Amino acid sequence: LGVDSSPHLARKIPDTLFGIFFEEINHAGAGGIWAELVSNRGFEAGGPHTPSNINPWSIIGDDSSIFVGTDRTSCFSRNKVALRMEVLCDNCPVGGVGIYNPGFWGMNIEDGKTYNLVMHVKSPETIEMTVSLTSSDGLQVLASAAIRVPGGSNWIKLDQKLVAKGTDRTSRLQITARTKGVVWLDQVSLMPSDTYKGHGFRTELISMLLDLKPRFLRFPGGCFVEGSWLRNAFRWRDSIGPWEERPGHYGDVWNYWTDDGLGYYEFLQLAEDLGAAPVWVFNNGISHHDEVDTTAIAPFVKDILDSLEFARGSAESTWGSVRAAMGHPEPFPVKYVAIGNEDCGKENYRGNYLKFYNAIREAYPDIQMISNCDGSSTPLDHPADLYDFHVYTGSSALFSMKNTFDNTSRSGPKAFVSEYAVTGNDAGRGSLLASLAEAAFLTGLEKNSDVVQMASYAPLFINDNDRTWNPDAIVFNSWQQYGTPSYWMQTLFRESSGATVHPISLSSSCSGLLAASAITWHDDENSFLRVKIVNFGPDAVGLTISATGLQGSINALGSTATVLTSGGVMDENSFANPNKVVPVTVELRDAAEEMQVTLPPHSLTAFDLAL
Ligand code: AHR
Repeated sequence: LGVDSSPHLARKIPDTLFGIFFEEINHAGAGGIWAELVSNRGFEAGGPHTPSNINPWSIIGDDSSIFVGTDRTSCFSRNKVALRMEVLCDNCPVGGVGIYNPGFWGMNIEDGKTYNLVMHVKSPETIEMTVSLTSSDGLQVLASAAIRVPGGSNWIKLDQKLVAKGTDRTSRLQITARTKGVVWLDQVSLMPSDTYKGHGFRTELISMLLDLKPRFLRFPGGCFVEGSWLRNAFRWRDSIGPWEERPGHYGDVWNYWTDDGLGYYEFLQLAEDLGAAPVWVFNNGISHHDEVDTTAIAPFVKDILDSLEFARGSAESTWGSVRAAMGHPEPFPVKYVAIGNEDCGKENYRGNYLKFYNAIREAYPDIQMISNCDGSSTPLDHPADLYDFHVYTGSSALFSMKNTFDNTSRSGPKAFVSEYAVTGNDAGRGSLLASLAEAAFLTGLEKNSDVVQMASYAPLFINDNDRTWNPDAIVFNSWQQYGTPSYWMQTLFRESSGATVHPISLSSSCSGLLAASAITWHDDENSFLRVKIVNFGPDAVGLTISATGLQGSINALGSTATVLTSGGVMDENSFANPNKVVPVTVELRDAAEEMQVTLPPHSLTAFDLAL
C-alpha cells in the first residue's frame, strides 16, 4: 500500500466531515439522553387527538380507598389535563394510597445522590402527603419526604429534594396520602441533580458522544420530524419555554409519547455542549401520509423563520428574547438547516422546498440549506448547498459503496451522508461485520471529501427496552451503556474532520477485500500519518506500507496500531460483555517509511505513524 504525502497532492478534509445524528427513536431522548425520570409527567400521554391517558402512572390502593381520574382543570393552558386523586379511606393502609410512576422501565436511583422533585398541586383542604422513591414493588423505601399541600383554590408549585439511601435500578416514584381528601396533581418532574453541566442530559451518555468528537449534531430526526401524520410531527414552538407549559406530543412514527422536555432549545444546548455545529432538520409541510399544499405553505415558512430567530436573533428580538429568558442570551450559531427528511419524491416537495429556501436565503444568507434529493449521480433541479444521502443496506453492498462518490460531479452542492448503516442479517444488533463495511464506506468518504462535506451514522441511540430499530451505535438502559462495534469504528474516524487526506495506491492479491485511506492529523503536541485499512476478508493479509513525499521522517517512538476485530465476524457487544469488540492499541516499534504489517482477518486497523 503506497501513501503519497507530497504536499501538492494533499487536500484538507472539511472540518465538519464526521458528526452525529440524534433522532428521537428507540426512546433515545425521552427515557434516554434526557435525564427526566418521570414518564408522562403531565398526564397528557395520547395528546389532543386521542383520549387522555395517564399511562404509565398506576394506582396504589383499591376502589374503596382511592379514586383517580383526570379532568381538564390544569393551570397550564397548553396541557390542560390534570390528575385528580380522591383519598376515600379513614383508616388508610400504613404505606398510604396514591399513585406511582415507574419511569421508563424503572428509575435508576443511586445511593447518596440527590433527586429534585417538582410537582404542581391543588387541594381545597390542607392535606398531608408523602413522596418517596421505592423499589418497583413499593416495599423498599430509598428516599422519602412528607409534604403539606395547603388548602386553597390555586395551584401551587412544590419543590422537594430527595436523597437516596440505597441503589435500585428499577425504582419508582410514589405520591401517597393517608387521610381523606382531594388533590389535583400536574407536571410532576424528577430529575437527578448531576446532569451534564446542569443541562438535563445523562452525563454518561454525553460522555460517549464527546468521545466521538462530533463536528455537527443533526437533530431531531429523521421520520420523527416528518410524523406519520402532520399533526404528530415535531413542532419546535411547542417544545420551548418552561417545561411545565409544553404540551408534549405523540411521535406516531416510532410510537411513543414524549413530554418534549428535550426540545428545540435543549437540542441547541446539546450541540453547544458537544462543540458541534447544530443541523436543524425541520418539517417542510410533509409527513408520511399527508402534505401541506405549496399554496398554503406560507405560515409554515414563517414558523421556521421564527425558529431561526429563536436560535440566532439578538436577546432583544421577539424570539431571541424567548431564548434569552430560557437562560441563553447569546445566540446559537445555526448554520445548517435541512428542509425536510426523505421527502424528495413527494408531490409538494419541490414547491415547498423553494418557498423555504428562498425565504431563508433572503433572511440568513450564510445558512447552508440541505435538500432531500440525492445529487450524487444526477444534478439537482433546484438550488441547494448540500443534499442528503441515506443508505441502509447489507455489508457487502456497503463495502462496495466505498467508491460511490468517485464519479460524482466536482461542482454543485456537496453531499451530506446524513444516515448510513449496515442493516439486516449482517448487522444483527451491532456486529463487527457491519462496522467493517461501514469503515470501508467511510474511507471512501474521506477520499471524496472534496464533494462529501458531512456524514453521520444512524440511529445513534437505543434504549434496550424499546428495540424499535436495530442496529444502533449506543445501547443503554436505566443505568448502563455500551458502544456497538459501529460506535467504536467511528472513534477511529474522529480525527479525520479537518485533517489532511493523501492519495493511496493499493496493490495486493486481496485488494478486492481491502479498503484504505491515509490522513495526516495532529493533537496538541504531535502529528501523525494515519493509515486506516479494512480487511473485509476471512484471512490475514500481509502488506507493505510505503510512505513517500513526507516532509520529515517517521518515528517509531510514539507510533501505534489500533485494531478493531474479534474472534467472530458476527460478534457483538452487550451489557454482560461491553468490551468484546473494542479497539485495542499497541505500540509500533518497527514503524518506518516502509514497513511490513499483517492485517488480522475481519479487521479495521489504524496505523498512527508519528511524524
Ligand atoms: O434512522 C432511522 C430512520 O431511517 C430515519 O428516521 C429516517 O430518516 C430513515 O428512514
